[in-house]
Amino acid sequence: MIVSPSLLSADFSCLRTDLEMINASEADWLHLDVMDGVFVPNISFGFPVIEAVSRICKKPLDVHLMIENPQNYISQVRDCGAAIMNVHQEACVHLHRTVQAIKAAGMKAAVTLNPATPVCMLEDIISDVDMVLLMSVNPGFGGQKFISGTIAKIQRLRKLIADSGSEALIQIDGGINLTTGKEVAEAGADSVVAGSAVFGTENPTAVISALKKL
Ligand code: DX5
Ligand code: ZN
Repeated sequence: MIVSPSLLSADFSCLRTDLEMINASEADWLHLDVMDGVFVPNISFGFPVIEAVSRICKKPLDVHLMIENPQNYISQVRDCGAAIMNVHQEACVHLHRTVQAIKAAGMKAAVTLNPATPVCMLEDIISDVDMVLLMSVNPGFGGQKFISGTIAKIQRLRKLIADSGSEALIQIDGGINLTTGKEVAEAGADSVVAGSAVFGTENPTAVISALKKL
């Protein structure tokens, strides 16, 4: 399992400590949740914070943009150190153009679907994307309960990827812990994002190691 801990649940008053924990852990990537208060009803952090994180974090940065008009920020996302730029399907009128521009900027292109957006919305773009993120909570907040319908959705996405010959990875974000992580692994997920399950525990590196083994 590719494990991407979400910094949203870290202690922002001592980020260096949490980033050094991530560096020393088995985490594959670090997930960064950017929120604009428009696309989602919350505001988190932006490019100056990501740039500062990139100077300490040794893991590839997996940047999840919960913002309107993400196509306007592609070079800024790249310049602050992102390896993966993840945009919401619901926020992109010209998703094909945006995906191509992300790849042309030298990043992996990922597309996210909200819980109410069906997998079929990606039918004509699936061969172009490096990863699909299925939200297993409504985006905007950490610490929410996993939406169980995500399991069947993973299976539908797995079939779409197989039928199209795409090599897209499947990532799941929201309410992931060792129990729901096992369920999504069995349904065919390649990657999990985990915020509160990692940063809200006494031993985050042990949780990361356990998620890795799923
Ligand atoms: C929610 C974010 C998630 C969040 C997950 O909108 O996209 O990445 O940090 O938090 P947990 O793992 O606590 O549900
Ligand atoms: Zn996220």
